[in-house]
Amino acid sequence: MTDTKEKLMVHIIDHPLVQHKLTLMRMKETGTKDFRELLEEIAMLMAYEITRDLPLEDVSIETPVAPCRAKRLAGKKLGIIPILRAGLGMAEGVLRLVPAARVGHIGLYRDPKTLQPVEYYCKLPSDVGERLFIVVDPMLATGGSSVAALDLLKEKGAKSIVLLCLVSAPEGVRAVNKAHPDVPIYVAAVDERLNERAYIVPGLGDAGDRIFGTL
Ligand code: URA
Repeated sequence: MTDTKEKLMVHIIDHPLVQHKLTLMRMKETGTKDFRELLEEIAMLMAYEITRDLPLEDVSIETPVAPCRAKRLAGKKLGIIPILRAGLGMAEGVLRLVPAARVGHIGLYRDPKTLQPVEYYCKLPSDVGERLFIVVDPMLATGGSSVAALDLLKEKGAKSIVLLCLVSAPEGVRAVNKAHPDVPIYVAAVDERLNERAYIVPGLGDAGDRIFGTL
């Protein structure tokens, strides 16, 4: 947990493979195919880190050689919630690591007049209150979409949520910390700032456009 001078509460995943792949993703020469593959790989590595404290329980099994006691995941089952559309690129990576997880989707657009996020799509697993949700969105910029998605998930009954992003701006981390202090935030980097168009600086550009090749 990094508690910076301005009291941002955020976990920075500084694994060398994550940082190396992030650098490749930031480079403007990196094309859509590589960008998408790198995002999936990073999401998988980050999910490995954030799931390291999941509780285990003992079970009795038989191997081809002998009966034995072994470990399996216990407690809440996982749910992955990509915020559309860029979150889809990260959800694939998390799902490769936790293939039995349920996947919900939250779609938000920004109202051009109020500039506030508005929900246009929300489909969640039915047992919302019994799952640990990993909300995924590569870019935590102003924090508006993340805060709205977390509001919505809690309204629907979610009790246990973490937010997984790739690159964040201090502004976005601050907004989520303020609105949802109970939700841990995991990122690969906290960049300098937002620019006047709400892009993260230096960031990596528009994540959705780079994932889907809609530049
Ligand atoms: N969304 C992006 O895709 N990139 C940014 O820099 C900010 C928001």
